[in-house]
Amino acid sequence: MRKQIDIVTIMPEVLEKLTKLGLLLGSGTNCNPMTIGWGSYGIMWNKPVFTIMIRPVRHSFTLLEQHGEFTINVPSDDMRKEIGICGSQSGRDTDKLAECRFTTENSSTISVPAIKECPIHLECRIIFKNDVIAGSLPKEVIDLYYPHADLHRFYYGEILGAWREE
Ligand SMILES: Cc1cc2nc3c(=O)[nH]c(=O)nc-3n(C[C@H](O)[C@H](O)[C@H](O)COP(=O)(O)O)c2cc1C
Repeated sequence: MRKQIDIVTIMPEVLEKLTKLGLLLGSGTNCNPMTIGWGSYGIMWNKPVFTIMIRPVRHSFTLLEQHGEFTINVPSDDMRKEIGICGSQSGRDTDKLAECRFTTENSSTISVPAIKECPIHLECRIIFKNDVIAGSLPKEVIDLYYPHADLHRFYYGEILGAWREE
């Protein structure tokens, strides 16, 4: 059973999990889970928006480009092992859902499912995207995070629904 929750009220809880453990991005119609450690949650164009940063080499990047939607799945504290699997293996050659013994649940507003075992889900539709502009970042950031020039693409997802598993 899942219950709709207020998108703004849960922001602190989601952001705390992002910084302390990581979140699970779901993309594609089968919900390929990928760990993310960076992102932002706020209001843009008067809409609630979750922004993710994805390197082009990721399988998730291809799925985001194909489907234009994603879920944000907030893990529970005992999911460290799953966060490790989803942050080190690629959905290109591994069924990470099976590896983590995760099951999926249909979303209400988008075609990408959510991970049922995660207590909170956000359903997001991409409304804007852009790439990191190397020349607009301080050199020390470029040197530290982009030695191979694999610049992130930002995906801004309008949050259409937020749910808590009960
Ligand atoms: C804690 C953690 C945070 C991560 N955050 C990101 C991120 O924000 N963006 C990104 O492109 N990769 C990030 N990664 C790397 C991807 O999760 C990893 O490369 C994953 O295997 C890609 O899966 P995919 O090929 O199925 O998309 C992170 C990895 C870890 C362990």
